[in-house]
Amino acid sequence: MNIVVYASYTGECQRIAQYLSKKTGYLLCSIEEISPASFENLILVFPVHCQNIPEAVKRFLSSVSVKHLAAIAAYGKMSYGNVLYEIQHRYPHTIVAGAYVPTKHSYLAGPRFEDFEKLDAIAEKMTNPKEVIIPKSFQNPLVNFFPTLRGQIGVQIQRNEDCRHCGICERSCPTHAMRNGKPTRRCIRCLRCVSRCPHGALSFRCRLPMALYLRKKPCEKFILYD
Ligand SMILES: Cc1cc2nc3c(=O)[nH]c(=O)nc-3n(C[C@H](O)[C@H](O)[C@H](O)COP(=O)(O)O)c2cc1C
Repeated sequence: MNIVVYASYTGECQRIAQYLSKKTGYLLCSIEEISPASFENLILVFPVHCQNIPEAVKRFLSSVSVKHLAAIAAYGKMSYGNVLYEIQHRYPHTIVAGAYVPTKHSYLAGPRFEDFEKLDAIAEKMTNPKEVIIPKSFQNPLVNFFPTLRGQIGVQIQRNEDCRHCGICERSCPTHAMRNGKPTRRCIRCLRCVSRCPHGALSFRCRLPMALYLRKKPCEKFILYD
């Protein structure tokens, strides 16, 4: 089976995956809906979180068997770490294409990703898949110190009086971290709850350390391995 699978919390990776699904004709599926299986060609689109592969994506990569894998890491123009190299070296799948794609950062206002045509080479490569070698890139070793806690300190989720206790935030939370419209300690600050709340009752605020970090000059590098 050929498929495009995405992990997406504020929609950027979902839009990229939708484009590639149309381009290739492959089935489109969210990582939360897919069951472990074997795939011939799989295009995986996921966001970089704290210069790392999100946990849900790691679990997915360990649970499936893939003959040809294209891995697309969307990052918020800060830093993409070493995630594609890690995928190539930690999992038994053959990578036939990869990309680091600069997208809108979940914590920053700004335009959404629109350069979809730049990904056409990935769709093309799936028709003639051959392994590519992903070079090692820089990952700041400090990113592995309590990333969830750093996110919780850096980003505050706020709820206002428009909350109608509909439970959509709880049901949509990928880490089951919402209780009565409030994040618990499991929250990774992915902001899915904020983007899904139909009443606009949830918002977020970056505290000073995160706000200062996000002022770094954006990195616009689009890197393709095909
Ligand atoms: C918890 C969290 C951590 C993130 N860490 C990074 C990072 O280390 N480097 C970066 O460039 N962008 C980072 N981002 C930004 C996302 O990679 C980027 O916004 C991506 O487009 C989000 O995709 P999505 O909308 O499909 O969830 C982070 C976002 C979140 C929510």
